[in-house]
Amino acid sequence: MEVTVAKSAGFCFGVKRAVEMVYQEAEKERKVYTLGPIIHNEQVVADLQQKGVGVLESVEDIKEEGITIIIRSHGVGRETLEALQKKNVQIVDATCPFVKKIHNIVQEKQQEGYGIIVVGNASHPEVEGICGWCKKECIVVETPQDAVKCTFPPGKKVCVVAQTTFNYKKFEDIVDILSKKSYDILIMNTICNATEERQTEAGTIARLSDAMIVIGGKHSSNTQKLYEICKAECLDTHFIQTLDDLDLNLFQSFRSVGITAGASTPNNIIKEVQSYVRKYEQ
Ligand code: F3S
Repeated sequence: MEVTVAKSAGFCFGVKRAVEMVYQEAEKERKVYTLGPIIHNEQVVADLQQKGVGVLESVEDIKEEGITIIIRSHGVGRETLEALQKKNVQIVDATCPFVKKIHNIVQEKQQEGYGIIVVGNASHPEVEGICGWCKKECIVVETPQDAVKCTFPPGKKVCVVAQTTFNYKKFEDIVDILSKKSYDILIMNTICNATEERQTEAGTIARLSDAMIVIGGKHSSNTQKLYEICKAECLDTHFIQTLDDLDLNLFQSFRSVGITAGASTPNNIIKEVQSYVRKYEQ
């Protein structure tokens, strides 16, 4: 059996960096908290909890002094950062550099007189954070209907950015509508290609494999999407959460097996599955 593991399986660069930063901080003397769960993976959060890392939902929940507070990869708005700076805590900023770049763009463009449009989901923490770096004139657009209703006046200088995980096709549709609204428009495509790369690679491997294993959380929508992409290319695609869900008997007759994993699947689970399946590799 030949086993191919997707290079882009699991954590993207920004999440990997943030999780590593938390583990590094956990080694130190101070008590460590993340502001919100560092990642939507119960095993990782539980493992960190065992190492003494707690989760606080907001700055108001900080009751101790001299502790470390870690900002996760989604980033936070200016107000939250300033509220943190007023506390007697050590701040470790694990904001993904690609998200930080958007914070810088919106600040700079607003200073130049642009109104800001963030294409994304208004209640997503990343979008809340981006809007938190705009002093005024910031509109979130999630659907073509929102774009039609956009209230900036014609002729206004408008800078458009996107939530990093926004779907590119939907972004294009929204930009099309906004471009027809007689704004002096500046489009910054800030979509991160980590998700697309993961999906494209999964599809390619699934097409070339007899069977495919997709690892990820039951409720993870990006893993579900990966599963659908793989299933369309390879009928024998299996969705598992951990090694326990894997029935290797199903795979013994296959010559080639591919493995990929959703964005919040830790590397050790991918490795475990990989070495288990590789026992049958020739
Ligand atoms: Fe990940 Fe950063 Fe992109 S968190 S999805 S690498 S924007």
